[in-house]
Amino acid sequence: MTKAKAKLKVKVNPDAWNEVWMDYGSDAMRTTNLILKRTAFLERVPKDAKILDVGCGTGVFLRELKKLGYTDLHGLEPDPQLFERDDLGGIIQEGDALTFGAKKAHQGRYDVVVITGVLHHLKDYGQVQRCLRNIHAVLKPGGTFYTLEPWKHLIRSIMQYLVRDTFVGYIIFRKDKILLKLEERELGQWLEMEKDVTAYAPTVGLHQIYGKKDLRYRYLIFQKTPKRV
Ligand SMILES: C[S@@+](CC[C@H](N)C(=O)[O-])C[C@H]1O[C@@H](n2cnc3c(N)ncnc32)[C@H](O)[C@@H]1O
Repeated sequence: MTKAKAKLKVKVNPDAWNEVWMDYGSDAMRTTNLILKRTAFLERVPKDAKILDVGCGTGVFLRELKKLGYTDLHGLEPDPQLFERDDLGGIIQEGDALTFGAKKAHQGRYDVVVITGVLHHLKDYGQVQRCLRNIHAVLKPGGTFYTLEPWKHLIRSIMQYLVRDTFVGYIIFRKDKILLKLEERELGQWLEMEKDVTAYAPTVGLHQIYGKKDLRYRYLIFQKTPKRV
């Protein structure tokens, strides 16, 4: 088979993400472990912190925090299908990254907001800006926002070129082809705007206090401007 034939030819429904994601519990566990480790979350965040996971999916991150002894956990997820089998005692509610800050019940309430692998699903820069304003609205002064999102890395791009988009890559990744196709589409758009997002955050009062990258993800922590005394 030629390389051209081996390219991922998949018809993709852009709304298929969640169906696909439900089968990728192991991927969510991997990103959970990564953000905990790479941001030194356990050392930075006390066990009684009020934590909100926005776009929490099936609640993998919250479940892990619960196991680790965190007690004040909350999740928002727009797709009820993802959390209908929630075994976390109803801490996940329906909610959207574009609107959650408008609810009085959330405003100024949280010590920590976490968003993992969600920003790159938002449709455009305007939506990401809205999401950042919502995060600012729900954080307490001095509260922190942790995020993990994919980013472009030269080595990763080379590996994709050499492996994923070849016949061998097709064989290795054929089960994941829908996921990869969706990622390719959304990642392209996200990478275009990623720098603008970091530049926009301080204009709404979210200041970057930490940043790290590895082969696949970028980890950032922002802090809401603390109250002046
Ligand atoms: C790749 S999954 C990540 C799920 C979860 N954060 C995790 O790490 O397992 C992307 C999630 O983003 C959610 N999502 C997409 N658009 C969203 C929006 N506008 N507001 C909140 N969540 C959204 C999806 O429903 C899905 O749960």
